[in-house]
Amino acid sequence: MTEQDFILKSYNSNVKSGSVKWSAPSNIALVKYWGKKENQIPENPSISFTLSNCKTITEVTYTKKEDNSLSFDVFFEDKLNEAFKPKIQTFFERIETYMPFLRDYHFKIETSNTFPHSSGIASSASGMSALALCLLSIEENLGVDYADDYFNKKASFLARLGSGSACRSIEGELVVWGQNKSTQSSDLFGIKYDGEVHSNFKNYQDTILLVDKGEKQVSSTVGHKLMFGHPFAKERFAQAHDNIAALKAILASGDFKAFIKIVESEALTLHAMMMTSMPYFILMKPNTLEIINKIWKFREDTNSNICFTLDAGANVHVLYPEIEKDIVLQFIKNDLVSHCQNDQFISDSIGKGAQLIKH
Ligand code: DP6
Repeated sequence: MTEQDFILKSYNSNVKSGSVKWSAPSNIALVKYWGKKENQIPENPSISFTLSNCKTITEVTYTKKEDNSLSFDVFFEDKLNEAFKPKIQTFFERIETYMPFLRDYHFKIETSNTFPHSSGIASSASGMSALALCLLSIEENLGVDYADDYFNKKASFLARLGSGSACRSIEGELVVWGQNKSTQSSDLFGIKYDGEVHSNFKNYQDTILLVDKGEKQVSSTVGHKLMFGHPFAKERFAQAHDNIAALKAILASGDFKAFIKIVESEALTLHAMMMTSMPYFILMKPNTLEIINKIWKFREDTNSNICFTLDAGANVHVLYPEIEKDIVLQFIKNDLVSHCQNDQFISDSIGKGAQLIKH
């Protein structure tokens, strides 16, 4: 498919108003997206677990208007929010070619997250995918009827233009984004992982340890730019392809130890890229390292299959099989929670993707 396939050709312009509502989950990358080209095209393929509990819930009310402007208001947790507007304005400008009705309506966007505000958890993936889904449902309300497969692809395509990782938040349980030789894939949208998945990886658990809830030190937009002219960029992008190929075999065989190696190495490589860019950043905090060391010691002592991954920040995602839920949660409560801000953590697990609430 190409970009052209996502342009809405005709619609019923007599619809006066309506509202739609979606919930969309966050996701956690196993092989990381870090570096992009023009138009939100990734430099390398990535694959993620879709989460279940960490979600954004968004309602969009649309009202026909006369002028030709892009017009919207954003309410976050019931309060008018000016801070979110620029990102959404950019998003609308990027997608209007594909959604020509955007200038016909005023949109009231009401959004909230299930996870604590400013927890340091990236809400752009869940937020942009929820908004993309709402806009696509509005498109359907204007008289088009899409098959599920096309609907999901277009939703993911639009979400990508809001935030790259958001394109992996439409479906579950594993989603691939970025062309590669090992899986079904596209640079334009995320695709539900089509390979075999061993029962070891079913209902995998992700406990998110909130180490640092402050503003991100490096926005992802700035972060991705650090890969331009980065001395190790070429090798890193090639490594992501190799890791996707390796992970495919691991997901099928159920080999926990091999899974852990790829996932932890990906997290540390992401941070290594930031430490070796110009300018350079250290996004881990002392407590991030304390947690990593304790996870490694616990794994050695108990032969657990616990491991960690990181986003572009200090928080730690602790990943483990469902069968180890009780002992790992006990370990987290006894030994890791003291390294979190206000002892905060969020228990999550793999989810099935976004849900329509109102059409
Ligand atoms: C480190 O999707 O937030 O979480 O496309 O600029 O919005 P933009 O970036 P974003 O980048 C996320 C990067 C990451 C790794 C990942 O999720 O794959």
